[in-house]
Amino acid sequence: MNATPHPAAAAPDPSSIVRLSTAYWESQTLLTANRLRLFDFLADGARSAEEVAAGLHLDPRSTALFLRACAGLGFLTETSGQYANAPVAAAFLVSRSPAFMGNVIRYSDQLYATWGKLEDALRSGQPALPAETYLGDDPERTRGFVMAMHERALGIARALVPLLDLRGRRAMLDVGGGPGTYSVLLTERFPGLKSEVLELPGVAAVARELVAAAGASDRVSLRDGDYHSADFGSGKDVVLMSGMFHRESEAACRGLIARAAACLDAGGLLVVSDVFTDPGGTQPTFATMFGLNMMLTAPDGGVHADADVMRWMMDAGLRELRMAPLPPPMPHRVVMGVKP
Ligand SMILES: C[S@@+](CC[C@H](N)C(=O)[O-])C[C@H]1O[C@@H](n2cnc3c(N)ncnc32)[C@H](O)[C@@H]1O
Repeated sequence: MNATPHPAAAAPDPSSIVRLSTAYWESQTLLTANRLRLFDFLADGARSAEEVAAGLHLDPRSTALFLRACAGLGFLTETSGQYANAPVAAAFLVSRSPAFMGNVIRYSDQLYATWGKLEDALRSGQPALPAETYLGDDPERTRGFVMAMHERALGIARALVPLLDLRGRRAMLDVGGGPGTYSVLLTERFPGLKSEVLELPGVAAVARELVAAAGASDRVSLRDGDYHSADFGSGKDVVLMSGMFHRESEAACRGLIARAAACLDAGGLLVVSDVFTDPGGTQPTFATMFGLNMMLTAPDGGVHADADVMRWMMDAGLRELRMAPLPPPMPHRVVMGVKP
């Protein structure tokens, strides 16, 4: 029997190998520029390499090479020896920009060394970074993690919030709600809706500050608790579970879904938003990489397939199941189900 050869098998091409074996050079260049606050330094106008070196206390020769690399990556422009922020850097990498992503990048920066321990984690089956470090034990890292989640949620919310029609709904439970960003934005968009964010104490403390700063303390409350054991209450009409299934096993996710379903009134909505794979688990690539990132940073961390989550919801008695992918570059997909 003649089988048609797989296209990738027909002509192996080493380009991806060459590219990926050095991809961390580019990552580290961006992470370092962000850490040095290079883009803030250039926010008010172009500077020479000597001025950047003097202003950021760097070595002049190294800085010249570094700035050229940043320009090569498209983050800076260079004109007659003067370096300026390119539009993408001005929009996302300058701290006074409303779309600043610096804390998200800083979180990746902090995980750079953790990724260097991938082999250890593969051998031991243990995360290379204890999750408690950034979920309360280390106050500075916890604050950094919460600020990173907040920045990321502000971006994702532009697609997630319009997707959810919560008109007429009054009581939301935001399980593992992190900075409370979605609760703040959803209760703003749907007057009459109040949300309770259930969070670990160290994270909740920072979230309280963010909710107060947003002027939303009258409609978003924070409750310290462990979502594995906390009472979800009753009479809810929305439960949001965003970005937490990737920390949990199938059994734990099923348990969380069952408890969410139990606390919902009839007609109540469960919304699960996360990075998910397609069935089979090997695509999209970002989701598989994200699974490794979670394996490195949480004991049960990984990535699930959205089709599996829909099945678990069905098993828990939820109906009207649907999945909506958020537009690129957001890797999230949203799975929803209604309690009959
Ligand atoms: C990736 S964050 C997502 C935060 C937020 N829902 C969002 O999407 O922006 C996962 C959150 O789950 C919280 N979390 C993890 N384990 C928890 C537990 N056992 N009980 C309560 N919250 C927990 C973490 O503190 C963190 O804020």
